[in-house]
Amino acid sequence: MTGVRTGEGAEVTVYPDRGSMDRAAAGLVAELSRSAVMSRGTFAVALSGGTTPRGLYRLLASSPYRERIAWKAVHVYWADERAVTPDHEDSNYRTAQELLLSQVPVLRENIHRIRGEETPASAADSYEREMVAHFGQAPFLFDLVILGMGADGHTASLFPGSAALTATERLVLPVPAESMRQARITLTLPAINRSRRVLFLVAGAEKAGVVSEVLERKDRNRYPAALVRPAEGGPIWLLDSAAGSLLRAAS
Ligand code: 6PG
Repeated sequence: MTGVRTGEGAEVTVYPDRGSMDRAAAGLVAELSRSAVMSRGTFAVALSGGTTPRGLYRLLASSPYRERIAWKAVHVYWADERAVTPDHEDSNYRTAQELLLSQVPVLRENIHRIRGEETPASAADSYEREMVAHFGQAPFLFDLVILGMGADGHTASLFPGSAALTATERLVLPVPAESMRQARITLTLPAINRSRRVLFLVAGAEKAGVVSEVLERKDRNRYPAALVRPAEGGPIWLLDSAAGSLLRAAS
């Protein structure tokens, strides 16, 4: 593995393969959950959608990581959801439920699902109400937000140029459908940046170009992922060698 320090305090580590990247991510989640529960009694984590975190979810549901997490103290949220029913194949809830949550003793009342089956506007409103009911006016929201990144630099469902990017108050917003993409519900930047830590998990050669753009370019702010600046320390980026292959520091 290769440690790379880039702009904005991002902590970037490049792993030789997906397996070692996923194991490092599982170890980090277990460690952050342990310190959160030690100091605050609970661990609130927002899960990412997409395909990249699936390996991580499988690992968290298996030894040795499963035993290292106090599941009864864990509150599970999502960074975003597609406007689909919870049993739909595109549902981020369904992915996490099948690969992780159905395999560990997390309390059902601590699973805070985005109701993708509602209209995106009402799903965003009800999710924000649920977050405010849980976090109140606390200075920090989640202990950890897990995010991926698309080849266009989007993260959660914050796409380049989308109105949701301009939010200053709202914590959750609907994102209208586009030609190739169903409507979404997403955490906003104020919500993500009011969280203690953020973990980006990015893999695959198709992401190498945007990874170097987001982490090394001066005008990186045109990419939503570059606007993620969590409250307690720079975003943590775990990459496989394919996704990190264009990072100067890595070569
Ligand atoms: C989603 C995600 C989205 C995802 C990226 C990367 O619901 O799709 O939240 O932001 O993380 O699109 O997706 P892959 O991991 O599938 O490449």
